[in-house]
Amino acid sequence: MRFTVAIDGPAAAGKGTISRAVAAQFGFAHLDTGLLYRAVGAMVLEGADPVAAAQALAPDDLERPGLRGAEAAEAASKVAAIPEVRAALVAFQRSFARRVGGAVLDGRDIGTVICPEAEAKLFVTASAEVRAARRWKELCAAGAQVPLEQVLADVRARDARDSGRAAAPLRAAAEARVIDTTGMSIDAAVAAAVAEVERALRRA
Ligand code: DC
Repeated sequence: MRFTVAIDGPAAAGKGTISRAVAAQFGFAHLDTGLLYRAVGAMVLEGADPVAAAQALAPDDLERPGLRGAEAAEAASKVAAIPEVRAALVAFQRSFARRVGGAVLDGRDIGTVICPEAEAKLFVTASAEVRAARRWKELCAAGAQVPLEQVLADVRARDARDSGRAAAPLRAAAEARVIDTTGMSIDAAVAAAVAEVERALRRA
């Protein structure tokens, strides 16, 4: 069976948690496409050319240490605005999406550009304040000392860059089911996503 779930949305809206839960619930493979851009960003921080790094990206590069950190996120958001970088990553994402057994891909442009034919599309969002507060709690738990205002400014800057770029900007596909997690528990958000995928499976 080929069945693609496309999950898009801004940083720290809960896409990762929801994607992993949906993949586990239905036995689908999961690809966090942000990691592709983070790996390219990390290589650029080490001096690589962004387009050459994207063209040469290998599965092992996704295991590099530090990819989840703020520095890699910032670099990722910058290389993600380069059309040639995005183009170099399309084929890998599309073949992952159509693998036998079903796939969940989360990112910014999955339902709009990478997999416009995805059987299920979700757009997971939340207010910038709530997303910043969640990210701040994670950072504090990991021992970082950073003011909440700084995290909120970073979230807003990344939103502006991801939504404002010309190449595949962040936006909801017309037919995507929007899940606003601002006032929602994780369990409720996961339940809404699972219900949507179940509906799509019945249609498929
Ligand atoms: O989801 P994330 O925070 O790991 O993504 C890091 C950056 O990569 C994000 O700022 C925008 C970019 N990105 C993208 O442009 N398209 C995707 N499909 C996934 C991520």
